[in-house]
Amino acid sequence: MKEEKENIFTVFNEILQRKDKEELLNQNSKVIWMTGLSGSGKTTIAKGVEKYLHSKGILNQVLDGDNIRVGISSNLTFSSEDRSENIRRIAEVSKLFMNCGIITLNCFISPTKKIRQIAKEIIGEDDFIEIYINASVTTCENRDVKGLYKKARKGEIINFTGISAPFEAPENPKLEINTSKLSINESIQKVLDFILPIIKNK
Ligand code: ADX
Repeated sequence: MKEEKENIFTVFNEILQRKDKEELLNQNSKVIWMTGLSGSGKTTIAKGVEKYLHSKGILNQVLDGDNIRVGISSNLTFSSEDRSENIRRIAEVSKLFMNCGIITLNCFISPTKKIRQIAKEIIGEDDFIEIYINASVTTCENRDVKGLYKKARKGEIINFTGISAPFEAPENPKLEINTSKLSINESIQKVLDFILPIIKNK
């Protein structure tokens, strides 16, 4: 491994920089990292935020757990090691988008403090905007949009977050959205109110 790295010659400093891309797009790129249980509302909120930002000419990209897991993470399971690797890959991908001036809206359970710390370290503390999409297991299980909680209860899915695998709520998220109390539109608005001053250049 060491030997391989010795033969790598990065060109990070020779290519156009993030600020050049941000100036081109007239926006500040950030990684909006939404963490929460399956069914808590991460993707639903991201879809609303994406649409609004797009309509205002702000270039952004939703990165979603299910999408990533049929592509770049298709060889990974839901063991704790594989979840870490999943999040590491996603954080690196998000960083590529960020260096291209693009805002990413990340929807990943990212269930443990350790896993989110990995992402924060890769992305950088200032650019890692952690939002906790809070809904209890009971709420998510009652919604059970994908029918996965039912399968997990029957033992048909192993390591299911909230049922047979842990979820650690973030201690100091930049923002917390309680989707059992707020409507979808209220949740979207709350995220927008929080992120717009950070990502808008003018
Ligand atoms: S993470 O834990 O590695 O961050 P990720 O966000 O990529 O998870 O994927 C979560 C999605 O995968 C869930 O929304 C659900 O649709 C699906 N899924 C399938 N199996 C599991 C499982 N065992 N635990 C949680 N989610 C699962």
